[in-house]
Amino acid sequence: MKVTDKITITNEDNMELMARYPDNYFDLAIVDPPYGIDVTKMTLGNAKNKLKSKEKDWDIEVPNELYFTELFRVSRNQLIWGGNYFKLPNSRFWIVWDKNNGESDFADGEMCWGSFNKPMRIKRVNWCGSACKHETGKNKIHPTQKPVALYKWIFEKYGKPDFKYLDTHVGSGSIAIAFDEMLNVWDLAGHDITNAELTACELDKDYFDATIKRLNNKFGNSYTFDDAPDNQTNIFGA
Ligand SMILES: C[S@@+](CC[C@H](N)C(=O)[O-])C[C@H]1O[C@@H](n2cnc3c(N)ncnc32)[C@H](O)[C@@H]1O
Repeated sequence: MKVTDKITITNEDNMELMARYPDNYFDLAIVDPPYGIDVTKMTLGNAKNKLKSKEKDWDIEVPNELYFTELFRVSRNQLIWGGNYFKLPNSRFWIVWDKNNGESDFADGEMCWGSFNKPMRIKRVNWCGSACKHETGKNKIHPTQKPVALYKWIFEKYGKPDFKYLDTHVGSGSIAIAFDEMLNVWDLAGHDITNAELTACELDKDYFDATIKRLNNKFGNSYTFDDAPDNQTNIFGA
């Protein structure tokens, strides 16, 4: 489904998506696969701030070797969130996302493996309490939703205005909002964005529908999908 003329998001398995593309088609893959920690069944935070999400099974296992072979086939460079959970080549380049969680039960951050020969970087984007709610509203639409500001920083720092980008696990679609904002920045700065595009997919129909709704609201689109439930903004069942 085209969300804008430069963003396409489909509801399918990423192996099906990648199979349609030739070697090195994408300049940069920015992906966030399951870490294999069964996150949807975790009760996060302290007793006061429990976030019990609707249980699903997508985070039981990490992607298999075939996934990584295919990912490295279709893309020239890769940024892989949760790289510390996967068997990846040694790299001097990592991004550490510092969530500024303070003294809490939550992890201080997350790690992203990168294929670039560049120095590692720490990026602080607050994602605790009101900082998160400021962006997501009362309810996140996805249990592992990442901040738009984090993706925007990635595009700014490691992307280029004429790149083709791939996200094989789009989740809440934060990457799409960041990409759209970055296109405006590049365009206003006089860069040629003619070739820029983001191709992404999400396997889970609930997440996919909620994400398309989020993006349609954001971009003012009137796209519809056949069987979307009216009450899909809160898919955590609470
Ligand atoms: C860690 S989450 C991504 C979160 C996303 N970065 C965000 O900011 O919202 C991983 C997502 O991958 C999806 N997924 C798992 N296996 C998949 C597959 N084979 N193909 C496509 N999506 C898949 C899951 O449903 C889940 O939504």
